Amino acid sequence: MRQPVIRASRVKRELKLGTQVVRALRGVDLTIYHNEMVGIIGPSGSGKSTLLGIIGGLDSPTEGSIEIDGLDISKMNEAQLTDIRNQKIGFVFQFFNLIPTLTALENVALPIEFAQVRRHKPFQRARDLLENLGLGGRHHHRPSELSGGEQQRVAIARALANNPPILLADEPTGNLDSQSGETVLAALKAIRAEQGTTVVLVTHDPSLASEMDRVLTLVDGRIVDGFGAEHADGQMNPKAATRLGEFGV
Ligand SMILES: Nc1ncnc2c1ncn2[C@@H]1O[C@H](COP(=O)(O)OP(=O)(O)OP(=O)(O)O)[C@@H](O)[C@H]1O
Ligand SMILES: [Mg+2]
Repeated sequence: MRQPVIRASRVKRELKLGTQVVRALRGVDLTIYHNEMVGIIGPSGSGKSTLLGIIGGLDSPTEGSIEIDGLDISKMNEAQLTDIRNQKIGFVFQFFNLIPTLTALENVALPIEFAQVRRHKPFQRARDLLENLGLGGRHHHRPSELSGGEQQRVAIARALANNPPILLADEPTGNLDSQSGETVLAALKAIRAEQGTTVVLVTHDPSLASEMDRVLTLVDGRIVDGFGAEHADGQMNPKAATRLGEFGV
């Protein structure tokens, strides 16, 4: 039996902007299983980042429920959500969000030093992670002394610092040239294979999406049916690819 690790039921998220109500998510249902690598695509403003934030406990739904490892996090308070994030989730963002004054090694060691239950020696673990991501020679470089692809791999190492079972990435290659993007994708695939991590990745890049096990398409705050880009052979369903083109994705 495949083990569900993320389950969303009728998730809605409304945001107030002055007097206007923005319906960012209008009823999302999804199940993501252990060790899957799932892509989320869709036009700008369709709710991708909002959905990822809700899955990761950075935000809560207005309605509906979201389960992480069988735990309903939708009604948790901020302290409980912080615990879930620390134990279960690693985040990677488009603009890396590294601390500019710290070296690569210090950036990765930081979340280990702050972990409630410290499972690793911070600098030893940080060294191993950077080594695994092909950054063995870059320990003492600060972010400004690294290429974009290298910075993003440091950010991935940091996201993995405390062994989260789930890695969430919001356009992790959105700011990278195609070659750096490939090194980041290779790193994510290796982590998924070696550590059994479940990966959910938002992207605008069809070639990156085609590398995922499965692709979910959001349009206007809903997952669109009929795009079922499930593919066993590594190819994106041609119909899905065509429809995406229509949306300018
Ligand atoms: N803090 C906020 N207040 C009000 N509206 C918001 C807020 N954050 C997002 N929105 C709106 O919610 C909708 C979904 O935004 P979201 O950032 O999830 O889209 P997205 O699919 O990630 O887009 P992009 O591809 O451009 O990153 C958009 O219409 C956006 O304008
Ligand atoms: Mg976004």
